[in-house]
Amino acid sequence: MTSENIAALLSTKQGQIEIAKRPIPTPQADEILVHNKAIAGNPVDWMVRDYGFGITEYPIVLGSDVAGVVEHVGANVTRFKVGDRVLGFAGVLATSKADHGAWQTYTVVKEQAATVLPSAMAFEDAAVFPMAMATSINAFFVQFGLPRPADAHSTIFSPGTECLFIWGGGGAVAASMIQLAKALGFTVYTTASPKHHDRLRRLGAAEVFDYEDANVVNKVLDKVSSAGLHLSHAIDNTSKKDTLLATSEILVRSGGPSSKLVTLLDWPEDMPCPVQKFSFFAFTTFAEHADLAGWFFNDWLAEALAERVIVPAPPVVIVDGGIGSVIKVFDRIKAGVNGVKVVILTVTKVIVVEAQVGPASDKQVPRVKQIPAWVEGPAIDELLDELPDYANVARVDAVGRGECATLAHISASNSMDSSRPHLATSRTAASTQEQRTTFPKYGASGSTNRS
Ligand SMILES: NC(=O)c1ccc[n+]([C@@H]2O[C@H](COP(=O)([O-])OP(=O)(O)OC[C@H]3O[C@@H](n4cnc5c(N)ncnc54)[C@H](OP(=O)(O)O)[C@@H]3O)[C@@H](O)[C@H]2O)c1
Repeated sequence: MTSENIAALLSTKQGQIEIAKRPIPTPQADEILVHNKAIAGNPVDWMVRDYGFGITEYPIVLGSDVAGVVEHVGANVTRFKVGDRVLGFAGVLATSKADHGAWQTYTVVKEQAATVLPSAMAFEDAAVFPMAMATSINAFFVQFGLPRPADAHSTIFSPGTECLFIWGGGGAVAASMIQLAKALGFTVYTTASPKHHDRLRRLGAAEVFDYEDANVVNKVLDKVSSAGLHLSHAIDNTSKKDTLLATSEILVRSGGPSSKLVTLLDWPEDMPCPVQKFSFFAFTTFAEHADLAGWFFNDWLAEALAERVIVPAPPVVIVDGGIGSVIKVFDRIKAGVNGVKVVILTVTKVIVVEAQVGPASDKQVPRVKQIPAWVEGPAIDELLDELPDYANVARVDAVGRGECATLAHISASNSMDSSRPHLATSRTAASTQEQRTTFPKYGASGSTNRS
């Protein structure tokens, strides 16, 4: 356990964010303490920072999406144990407690807001889910009132009998919504920029339409009716006036005025709504619908991830610099992202993928040592000590999956470890230049970018 908690502290309402140490939180009886390895940003992060809504106590730590390792469990926790790899929804927007914010090394998460990860799932990939899935389950099971499926392989509709329209399929929330809707048995129609169309079909959308197409409403209606279906459920992820009008028109013309429309932002008060409209805050799911949240996050999602009914999406962009990059992340999301989730890693991720451990002169049969591992801080030393002195090449993924660098690059890039420059000199006799090689084994989805 690292002994300090580095946090992005927002000191006052609409104030400045500063990186500071704060005490490691203590979980309550129904909570777990997560040592965050990856933290993802959401639009609400910068909105709360800039507009000051929602939070009643300062200083505060914002953020909702974490993935990491369980460090401690509360007295009543039964579903998790120390050492579990988990994703979790950080509930700061509900509680206004800094301990519940994501943007720090350690976050306290409610038991029913966490999911055990498959062993092969990278933390940065897992961090895409908490906010997106909390929003999705509230839309489907609370606002639409749909029944729960028996398990991750069971639908609630016979395929081809019910359809869902999602305006704005390209974003982070939509990637979870599309997959969950497909798993429930919906035929999914959505809109997105053309560059996302193939990706969204792979996630489960039956048809994807360009929202810039002036005839998009008629095209959606034609497809739905040619499939012999009627749309009575829709979600508008964009929730601007023009998209709300278009989405509600599709619903009225297909399913009639009793159709249900979920909006992720409020419907404007000065605009009449021709269908039943619903809006909500995702963070309320855990307090107001704790049983639903626990069923979904503890059981259904764990099974769905393990069996790849649900896969990490959208692609992740990792911003270097750890928690210290929080302002960069917020501002990047504020400027607008297109079909990616912006994530930071709290630790330098080091995976020794290949080290020739034979003597330099022994060119004929270099033995190869493979040590895939997550390591951080002092553990880097321990990992390097496992390699014999004559290890002449060690290619290490210190810069992200699928990219490899030499040990020299590790020490240069390891911002949490700048006190140990010897790593740059003692191990790099044969490889003083940064090398980058693609190792497909560690770039499974090929989806991670860095900036
Ligand atoms: N009520 C809640 O509790 C709740 C929870 C989560 C999120 N939200 C809100 O829901 C929205 C989506 O969240 P997110 O995390 O998914 O955001 P996001 O990933 O930042 O969404 C970006 C996507 O929005 C799409 N988009 C922008 N304008 C569009 C338009 N006119 N028509 C169709 N698509 C458009 C873009 O699609 P292209 O790339 O195809 O252009 C882009 O990929 C945000 O406003 C967020 O604040 C609300």
